[in-house]
Amino acid sequence: MRALTWHGKRDVRVDTVPDPRIEDPTDVVVRVTTTGLCGSDLHLYEVLGPFLDEGDILGHEPMGIVEEVGPGVTELSAGDRVVVPFNVSCGTCYMCSTGLQSQCETTQVRDQGNGAALFGYTKLYGQVPGGQAEYLRVPFGNTLPIKVPEGPPDDRFVYLSDVLPTAWQAVTYADVPKGGSLAVLGLGPIGDMCTRIARHHGVENVIGIDLVPERLDRARARGITTVDLREHGKELGDVVRGLTGGRGADSVIDAVGMEAHGSPGGKLAHQLTGYLPDAVAAPFMKAAGIDRLGALYSAIDIVRRGGTISLSGVYGGTADPMPMLTMFDKQIQLRMGQANVRRWVPDILPLLTDPNDNGGDPLGVDGFATHRVPLEQAPQAYAMFQRKQDGMVKTLLKPGVVG
Ligand SMILES: NC(=O)c1ccc[n+]([C@@H]2O[C@H](COP(=O)([O-])OP(=O)(O)OC[C@H]3O[C@@H](n4cnc5c(N)ncnc54)[C@H](O)[C@@H]3O)[C@@H](O)[C@H]2O)c1
Ligand SMILES: [Zn+2]
Ligand SMILES: [Zn+2]
Repeated sequence: MRALTWHGKRDVRVDTVPDPRIEDPTDVVVRVTTTGLCGSDLHLYEVLGPFLDEGDILGHEPMGIVEEVGPGVTELSAGDRVVVPFNVSCGTCYMCSTGLQSQCETTQVRDQGNGAALFGYTKLYGQVPGGQAEYLRVPFGNTLPIKVPEGPPDDRFVYLSDVLPTAWQAVTYADVPKGGSLAVLGLGPIGDMCTRIARHHGVENVIGIDLVPERLDRARARGITTVDLREHGKELGDVVRGLTGGRGADSVIDAVGMEAHGSPGGKLAHQLTGYLPDAVAAPFMKAAGIDRLGALYSAIDIVRRGGTISLSGVYGGTADPMPMLTMFDKQIQLRMGQANVRRWVPDILPLLTDPNDNGGDPLGVDGFATHRVPLEQAPQAYAMFQRKQDGMVKTLLKPGVVG
């Protein structure tokens, strides 16, 4: 089959690789019809090289048609339409049954000291072959794939794999008080979807912050107050306090995460590790901390005293300094983590399927993608997404489509 594989920093290619097969009785193989390109993939593209091997298949936002089921699969059959969550979670362990699928005890990557395995996401998360491919082996066929109805286009459902549950969890964790305000740092797919979900939940004062004009425009077009960092980078705190009665936002979502944006000012550590052998670079990156914490520091500044910060942007270093004095003194509540995808599906699915609710699409998922491209053109899409060119916000890759 054809699949998008990692070959080095800013070097991904579409290669012919062996087809996946049923390996365990409860596996299914899915023929991927649509598969997303995510801000998290940019971390692999830019900084997480020491944790990848050449040829690793990337991608964790797939949906498609069940092609084949193992002999132990009773809940799905060939031909079913499914979305695959990015967490590889068993659905039956203690963590899964409490809704913490990102901590699944069956798939925890214990040799790395990490939580649940993830599709297409480095040795830190199990080195599981990913979903930017024509076919994907999915374990836990009875509990992991999300069955979705026939009818609407893939765009309606594909974001159940990551964007929707991630944004839903971020907004839930942000815990905006009734009548309160929410600031969202970063208006990539995750931040943009957070603003939509917050509005859907009735939060009126939603402030979106970014520095890419098309992303700011897109949020503004849906009634979000936007702050352009290119104009207000230096006095962001004052601007947000000005929009929130002088106090700061009741809640802040950081939807930026660690440096993945290829910024020229970025990261001696990244450059250094680029020249080190993986065996040296990997422990160095884990210990030294690789993050640019600019967005997190902004979050701490713009949240009001006693407010909540919800971190959905991914951070990776263990030794990054946190301003504990300010955080303690401001009495900040902090919540974070990978999304527990399965946990939120029952809340979200009705918003995608109820025809009485804004044509079945109150969050605007049908028009959410800015680009739909054949899988064969994925390398160009990665480059464009990282550089934020051509108004690209969300890209859906189409395996099997000739471009
Ligand atoms: N927690 C989870 O389960 C989960 C799931 C998916 C994605 N993520 C993470 O969420 C983050 C966002 O993902 P995305 O797909 O929207 O990616 P993205 O890279 O497209 O979006 C990030 C946005 O942040 C903006 N930005 C950069 N620096 C900023 C700053 N200092 N202040 C405000 N905005 C800034 C960028 O211009 C960009 O628009 C990534 O870190 C990704 O890894 C987490
Ligand atoms: Zn993703
Ligand atoms: Zn589990």
